[in-house]
Amino acid sequence: MMEPLPGASLQKACRLLVIFCALHLVVTMVYYLAGRDLDIFQYFTENQQSQHDWKNASTTPAAEPHVCPETSPLLVGPLNIEFSNPVDLEETKKENPAVRDGGRHTPKDCQALQKVAVIIPFRHRDKHLKYWLYYLHPILQRQQLDYGVYVINQDGEETFNRAKLMNVGFAEALKDYDYDCFVFSDVDLIPMDDRNIYKCNSQPRHLSVSVDKLGFRLPYQQLFGGVTALSKDQFQKINGFPNNYWGWGGEDDDISNRIRYNKMSISRPNAIIGKYRMIQHFRDAKNEPNPQRFDRIAHTKETMNSDGLNSLSYEVLKTEKYPLYTIITVNIGLPKSIS
Ligand code: BGC
Repeated sequence: MMEPLPGASLQKACRLLVIFCALHLVVTMVYYLAGRDLDIFQYFTENQQSQHDWKNASTTPAAEPHVCPETSPLLVGPLNIEFSNPVDLEETKKENPAVRDGGRHTPKDCQALQKVAVIIPFRHRDKHLKYWLYYLHPILQRQQLDYGVYVINQDGEETFNRAKLMNVGFAEALKDYDYDCFVFSDVDLIPMDDRNIYKCNSQPRHLSVSVDKLGFRLPYQQLFGGVTALSKDQFQKINGFPNNYWGWGGEDDDISNRIRYNKMSISRPNAIIGKYRMIQHFRDAKNEPNPQRFDRIAHTKETMNSDGLNSLSYEVLKTEKYPLYTIITVNIGLPKSIS
């Protein structure tokens, strides 16, 4: 036998190596391409999936915000109220950026428990209104209320009629929003504690329990003046407030009678939480004590079903929405004896 040439076996070995390398390359390529295809496929399906999710996100309604807690965590308790520095409403607006035009506010982190219209009977008390807006907007926001501020301005210089203006406020606020609670406030009363919540209760509520001007005590149990809160149902049940109390006094006693005759009672915060400061002022012109008030109060039972919301007539002269409040100027007519 002939000895194989050493060069020939080397050649064979090299050929085998080349074949092996080529095979390796082919296998690697196949796996590489198969892997890429798989990735592309995955990318494609993932992309479809995410488009699907996006579509879902746009059609699924956003989760309802949770209901605000019964006691707001933002409350601070007793407040320092004083009236020595004048109020600049532009500054006040800047300090309350979450208050919308017309004096509206809705809590952003939770769904308010009640929709509250704050009604302020008004005439020529611009300075007092500024203090009221300055102090009350931060308080009402900390109380996490969905609220609006309505100033009901009596047109002309005839005798003032507080209760009729409040009836107008009830009717007009309801045209603006679906309120379920109405807080009626004198323009010169500022709460000294933000735990005194401007909200309605299972019974009509008297909020201004202990006013500085009245020696921080309740003069009599049936008092229902100053700041009060009635739900829409409670207000309608008593046929609203009387329309025929012109001048100072008595109308709040009539409302108190209406509450009692309709088998409801007055609820109140305690005397600490119910503290108020009243802005000092002289009695307004054309708001002298009403001499007829004692006689009228004695007849609430007979008059309440025919005098009130169901006999209310007035004419809106102007509605203006300012950044911190809505002011509605109304012609409420004249006292019966001179009309
Ligand atoms: C009047 C009320 C008034 C109260 C407290 C009463 O005599 O009739 O209208 O709110 O005194 O001043």
